[in-house]
Amino acid sequence: MSKIKIDLTNYLGIEKNVDFRGLQDKVFSIISNLYASKSNLPAMTGWLSLPHDSGMFQQINDFVSKIKSSDQYQHLLVLGIGGSSLGAQALIESLKTNLWNRLSATKRKGYLTVDFIDNLDPVIIRTVLSRLKLDKTLFVVISKAGGTVETIVPMLIAKEWVGENFYKQCIFITSVETHHGASTLFDLGKKHQVPIFPIPENVGGRYSVFSSVGLLPAALCGVDLNEVKAGLLEADSLCQIQDIRTNIAASLALCAYFSYLANRNIFVLMPYSTCMRRFVDWFIQLWAESIGKNQKGSTPICAIGATDQHSQLQLFNEGPNDKLICFVKINKHKRDLTVPDYSDDNLNFRAYAGHKVGQILNIELDATRRALAESKKPNITITLPELNEFYISELMYILEVATAIKGNLLGVNPFDQPGVELAKRYTKEALTNK
Ligand code: PA5
Repeated sequence: MSKIKIDLTNYLGIEKNVDFRGLQDKVFSIISNLYASKSNLPAMTGWLSLPHDSGMFQQINDFVSKIKSSDQYQHLLVLGIGGSSLGAQALIESLKTNLWNRLSATKRKGYLTVDFIDNLDPVIIRTVLSRLKLDKTLFVVISKAGGTVETIVPMLIAKEWVGENFYKQCIFITSVETHHGASTLFDLGKKHQVPIFPIPENVGGRYSVFSSVGLLPAALCGVDLNEVKAGLLEADSLCQIQDIRTNIAASLALCAYFSYLANRNIFVLMPYSTCMRRFVDWFIQLWAESIGKNQKGSTPICAIGATDQHSQLQLFNEGPNDKLICFVKINKHKRDLTVPDYSDDNLNFRAYAGHKVGQILNIELDATRRALAESKKPNITITLPELNEFYISELMYILEVATAIKGNLLGVNPFDQPGVELAKRYTKEALTNK
């Protein structure tokens, strides 16, 4: 079977003062400590146990089969923000494209269309609610803390629009208990007999994609959880291998760390795939919220190839040398198209004739890597054999582990978010004292 690969040629040849060997023992001890703390609640590393939670995978699969066979719903509306939304968005868009809702029910094989409300933008809330058949909509409300304003307010509006049956059409995903006491959503669910999927206490929002938070919405849209689980188990073994050359999470964290020491404070994630735009949004949250602390961190940036070759690439190539660029290459694109030969119309078209579209995209990627290397801009490339459930899940888990390692290397806690909590508290205070 093909494997995910990382290519460091354009990194090791360019970045100076890189000493992987000098840090490898430290990195492996960080990894061992992360895994050793899986069952220790305050360590917040419960996400490392999720690949092995067969009961959870089974429960979600059973639930989705029940929803499908009931034929009651056509649409799924997910209400949640940050870690309670982005993971599901990343999985669904990467695997089903952002055109999923435009497919017929037959093409969707009976799985649900999906919309996400992850902001208090009244225009979006009104537009989404008004174009759904509300009596055919399943509402999945997700909040670990259980009272997040950006989630609760759209839920209250949706209740007003749907009417008395609203809670019968809801699923809640929340924690049973929060550090402030019981979750509001949990209490509400109990009161109205809403099915509740619990979020484990030691799984933080941005590390929760492989709990019900990400998996339930994804499975309702036809993402194959057995393949997700297989990819996660592969990643789980890979991340514990004590060899920097094969442990992609370790080598990625080290590259990011040495670039940070060299004052490259920007980390660009640039997949050559439009389907991975939300995936990068998920990563941006993971990286920024985990590592940006104590005046440390590197700013994550989204770029999409080849689109951003006609935009940000100018800055990457000739602007300040303050970035580490990480490309994601899809080796074999699904449902690829062959360019027809219309060289009779214009001889210039001959260069494209017979090529697969995905091949041209990858030729562009290789050309960009080369151009950046010639400008002495360090870059690394992660290659996925295909964009499918197995590899996308494997990559997401590897990025989670890499983020945790990088945070530890910088001496910050990658699992808290005091800066976010503070703004949440001030908002609550302002609303309560109206
Ligand atoms: O990573 C995090 O902890 C945050 O981004 C949360 O996911 C986000 O603030 C939403 O919180 P909650 O799920 O409690 O509503």
